[in-house]
Amino acid sequence: MEYRVLGKSNLSVSVIGLGCWSFGGGSYWGTTDQTTVEKVVLSALDNGINYFDTAESYNEGESERSLGKALKGHRTKAIIGTKISPSHTYSPKEIEKCCKDSLKRLSTDYIDLYMLHWPLNPKSIVHFSKDPNIQTVPPIAEVFHTFQKLQEKGYIRYIGISNHGIQQMRELLDIGIPIVSNELPYNLVSRAIEKDILPFCGEHRIGVIGYMALQQGLLTGKYRDFSTIPPPQAHSRHFHHSRGKTESRHGENGAEPEMLELLEKMRPLAKELNTTVTTLSLRWAIEEKRIACTLVGSRSLEKLHENIEATRFPLTQEVYQLLTRWSEPVLQTLGFSADYYESREESRIF
Ligand SMILES: NC(=O)c1ccc[n+]([C@@H]2O[C@H](COP(=O)([O-])OP(=O)(O)OC[C@H]3O[C@@H](n4cnc5c(N)ncnc54)[C@H](OP(=O)(O)O)[C@@H]3O)[C@@H](O)[C@H]2O)c1
Repeated sequence: MEYRVLGKSNLSVSVIGLGCWSFGGGSYWGTTDQTTVEKVVLSALDNGINYFDTAESYNEGESERSLGKALKGHRTKAIIGTKISPSHTYSPKEIEKCCKDSLKRLSTDYIDLYMLHWPLNPKSIVHFSKDPNIQTVPPIAEVFHTFQKLQEKGYIRYIGISNHGIQQMRELLDIGIPIVSNELPYNLVSRAIEKDILPFCGEHRIGVIGYMALQQGLLTGKYRDFSTIPPPQAHSRHFHHSRGKTESRHGENGAEPEMLELLEKMRPLAKELNTTVTTLSLRWAIEEKRIACTLVGSRSLEKLHENIEATRFPLTQEVYQLLTRWSEPVLQTLGFSADYYESREESRIF
């Protein structure tokens, strides 16, 4: 397994990380069996994966709880990243309570990387709180100073952010917050961060964790048309807004023809190279060296092992360039807004 240093931290993270969103079951991903989760987590550790990504909001805390159980007796081998929701940041007391609740669910006394899940703006707070009347935003400096207090108390090792754009990162740097990482979407059909965010993070040594390497299953090539994608996985801007049913919020037309064309080109290429569309997609994302760790949601041993194997796939520069070129029309259509859930006009990432 290859490791990369995460920003200015002392964390050396594996190039693929275990995305734990589905752990603990829930309406977004359906049932997930705890015995299998435990096997997957142990096998991930045995194969050199050391970064495990969760959030307080994933399955109402059940993802953290499930991961905590699976890591019992193996805590020191793992780097745990978890996230506080923007709707839970109204007072230092509330923030500390959320952190302690996460610690408890994770059955640990420290969190390696504590991230703010989405920037502090009304739209993301409304989304997480489900309260449409919220207009006010907590004071950013106060929130992050509270994170620093948690650091001083030893509850968290490093402070991170997720889904933050340049202006939002600059604001934090200006108030002197030692941000070590920013977690953002990155895969063949979600390349918005390439233009400005990745260069900015590089310049300021903010480590990047890329999420959703397989675009929630799309980049496995399993969908020949998009009519069978469950609405939760089809509510991003990649798809026509009607595809995600009531879950879609963006109102855009998506990039379905462009994505179908990409997958139609990738299938024969994968066959020719004696590999899979999944491996090509994952390996392409890992090739971006400005990203320290690429997250993929693996919840069966078979899929985990295929994903680990993908890190060793000998991707030539020629194939890398080909995939980059083939995915270009998707990027052109979706544009450079890294918020793939709200319309470009209402992006929460800026
Ligand atoms: N910071 C954020 O705002 C944010 C947002 C989204 C995600 N994330 C993080 O990123 C992680 C990864 O993203 P994700 O889980 O949403 O999506 P993902 O990793 O792009 O895709 C997960 C999907 O791919 C399938 N899959 C995985 N490996 C496969 C393989 N080898 N062959 C075939 N199918 C395979 C899974 O199948 P099954 O359904 O059969 O398991 C699941 O449907 C999350 O778990 C979470 O930790 C962070």
